[in-house]
Amino acid sequence: MSDARKGLTGLLDTEAIRKDFPILDRVIHGDKKLVYLDSAASSQKPRQVIDALSGYYEQHHANVHRGIHVLADEATALYEGARDKVAAFINAPSRDEVIFTKNASESLNLVANMLGWADEPYRVDRDTEIVITEMEHHSNIVPWQLLAQRTGAKLKWFGLTDDGRLDLSNIEEIITEKTKIVSFVLVSNILGTVNPVEAIVRRAQQVGALVLIDASQAAPHAPLDVQALQADFVAFTGHKMCGPTGIGVLWGRQELLEDLPPFLGGGEMIETVSMNSSTYAPAPHKFEAGTPPIAQAVGLGAAVDYLNAIGMEKIAAHEHAITEYAVKRLLEVPDLRIIGPVSAEDRGATVSFTLGDIHPHDVGQVLDEQGIAVRVGHHCARPVCLRYGIPATTRASFYLYSTPGEVDALVDGLEHVRQFFG
Ligand code: ALA
Repeated sequence: MSDARKGLTGLLDTEAIRKDFPILDRVIHGDKKLVYLDSAASSQKPRQVIDALSGYYEQHHANVHRGIHVLADEATALYEGARDKVAAFINAPSRDEVIFTKNASESLNLVANMLGWADEPYRVDRDTEIVITEMEHHSNIVPWQLLAQRTGAKLKWFGLTDDGRLDLSNIEEIITEKTKIVSFVLVSNILGTVNPVEAIVRRAQQVGALVLIDASQAAPHAPLDVQALQADFVAFTGHKMCGPTGIGVLWGRQELLEDLPPFLGGGEMIETVSMNSSTYAPAPHKFEAGTPPIAQAVGLGAAVDYLNAIGMEKIAAHEHAITEYAVKRLLEVPDLRIIGPVSAEDRGATVSFTLGDIHPHDVGQVLDEQGIAVRVGHHCARPVCLRYGIPATTRASFYLYSTPGEVDALVDGLEHVRQFFG
């Protein structure tokens, strides 16, 4: 055991937790025990979530909000019950502020489109500015580029410091009286950086700009309190927090959801329809056109129950310890360069690195042969790779089931990669 493992505190009982995740028992490539270090891409699912999904389909499935029969009532109660669970999980003042989408990308696109079609004072047009950052996931870049192209608005962004943090030194030039929306990631999916929300929100509020926070890499890992963040919108996805794929969340302040126009039209989101015009249902239904992701919402509700039963503070402490240990151990590997903060403070459970001049795809492939699953590439955050002059990174990401032994396996695996490539 490495010396760095001594003094590791705050760890969860991963032996017990891992029993909930059947997939973690898999043996791959013949005899290699799976070491799953790709939870930032998608987390694994506990039995409790898998059972909730199959239980829903076996016993309760029907379409929601429109039936007058038992199954329709049960499905509606389960779907709306999931909304209650999510609202409580993020400390939303009202359940009606929780919109179900299909993923975080859809949540972010939804806000961009609401603002593009909005009237004053929210409307984004050629005289206004949109602010993002250089560390955004493509899902928080491309929708704003599209909106800027459509409206003529100017797209601006915060750059990055050499150690992987936001450069806020020119905050007053970036966020100005013309800014309509500031949209930024709470925890970077590639650098692991936790961003200084308060400073950005304070400046946005000074100029009357709206704030959208992409919490996709935050919601799974630590308590998320939308009221404390003081943002106007918060987006995240279910599949990174033990829930199924196909379900995302957009939280928005109630008065905004009342004022802003819908994006997708269809069934479920209307009050009345005539051939000439329609009126809309109140939020959240106004933003949930068509049959919603019912089973997926039920699964997300079960994921929220699962995470709450363990405790988000405890999960955060566990991941902090694992990440601190991983950073220490990775820095022992010759030629390894961490892309992102090296201090364990203000960083999430995602560590990107390069290894000499070995291409990350080669690193990932040799690790996979040893049973170790990491993600390689630009992680849908290509501007970050451009900023640091690298084609791609190898990324290890941890979750509540990750163990120090898996960090050791990664470090041993990287030693093998180095030997393999001479
Ligand atoms: N956004 C996911 C990731 O960072 C897919 O891997």
